[in-house]
Amino acid sequence: MSASKFRVVPFDKNFDRTTFNCGSEALDRYFQQQVSQEIRRRVTACFVVLTQDQMIAGYYTIAATSVPLTGLPPDIAKKLPRYPLVPAVRMGRLAVDHSFKGLGLGSALLADALHRAFLSDIAAYAMLVDAKDDEAAAFYQHHGFITLPDSPLSLFLPLATASGF
Ligand SMILES: CC(C)(COP(=O)(O)OP(=O)(O)OC[C@H]1O[C@@H](n2cnc3c(N)ncnc32)[C@H](O)[C@@H]1OP(=O)(O)O)[C@@H](O)C(=O)NCCC(=O)NCCS
Repeated sequence: MSASKFRVVPFDKNFDRTTFNCGSEALDRYFQQQVSQEIRRRVTACFVVLTQDQMIAGYYTIAATSVPLTGLPPDIAKKLPRYPLVPAVRMGRLAVDHSFKGLGLGSALLADALHRAFLSDIAAYAMLVDAKDDEAAAFYQHHGFITLPDSPLSLFLPLATASGF
């Protein structure tokens, strides 16, 4: 992503979302109709990538979550303290408008989310994502995410390994 052409900023309800089209109706509808209310209720945060002329090229949402220790792969779980829940950050949604696909914006948004989670004063062991289908799961795997043993569309990345993003 060229730093001069795009910038990632917190969501603002005054941005024009009406024409956003990532190819997934559910992700478009959520962004156009629901995200504002969820931000107001503090159940999610949202960041968008803007073009120089303020067009929204993509967005992601991020919120606190946890994962059961027993849900992690055993070789990872055995290195963690025996608390039942492991603190994590969930990237709930990630979408890039179809006219900006393949430019590296999906990776840049993912890196931005990992960076914010990594720098937070509030500890989280990993970032979790729920892929909407196998293609989305492949995108996350391409970026080093590991599938949770019991749910193939849920993936995680320990934030310690993501520090180089
Ligand atoms: C998935 C999505 C966010 C990717 O965004 P994008 O900006 O087109 O992707 P990028 O240009 O950043 O791709 C970066 C890298 O990921 C790879 N990649 C992209 N989509 C991929 C996929 N489905 N599977 C595997 N790798 C993928 C690219 O080849 C590229 O690899 P490289 O850096 O080694 O060259 C976008 O296609 C999208 O919005 N899809 C619809 C919504 C969706 O599926 N969201 C996922 C969360 S549910």
